[in-house]
Amino acid sequence: MPDSGLSRVLQVALCGGLWLAGGAAAQTKPGEQVYREVCMACHAAGVANAPKFGDRKTWAPLIAEGQAVLTAHGWVGVRGMPARGGNPNLSLEEFSRATAYMARAAGGTWRDPDPKMLAAIRAEEKKRIGALKAKK
Ligand code: HEC
Repeated sequence: MPDSGLSRVLQVALCGGLWLAGGAAAQTKPGEQVYREVCMACHAAGVANAPKFGDRKTWAPLIAEGQAVLTAHGWVGVRGMPARGGNPNLSLEEFSRATAYMARAAGGTWRDPDPKMLAAIRAEEKKRIGALKAKK
């Protein structure tokens, strides 16, 4: 029956489309997951002096720098902190969520970034890159 064959093909195509759409929606990972997959390797134990997860004393002055500034500096990379936590596949949003997650674990009140915060982080990223270039 060519008819049911065609509808089967359509069904599969439709399911595939839904599956792809679901995959795309799930692509921006929550901060905790990004932390566990990427940041924990250094930030759990404080490798190379990484500010330790949950260590309020170490995080307090960092949190005081403000969410946009600190997130941008980590994103660009600073000393032992590799750019994007060493994972080039991370989006800025994911990196920001992971940073906010660590800040909250150390007593901060940072939220997952909204579009306004992401724009502020982008602006700080530009400043930081400009400052690093000027130094060379
Ligand atoms: C290879 C080890 C490593 C990984 C992986 C790593 N970090 Fe770091 N991170 C560091 C070190 C070391 C520092 C301290 C840098 C310094 O101040 O000398 C740091 C500092 C930071 C800072 C503070 C930056 C500042 O301006 O002082 C933030 C924010 C940060 N990391 C976020 C993250 C996030 C988010 C992830 C995961 C996406 C991550 N890091 C993954 C090693 C790492």
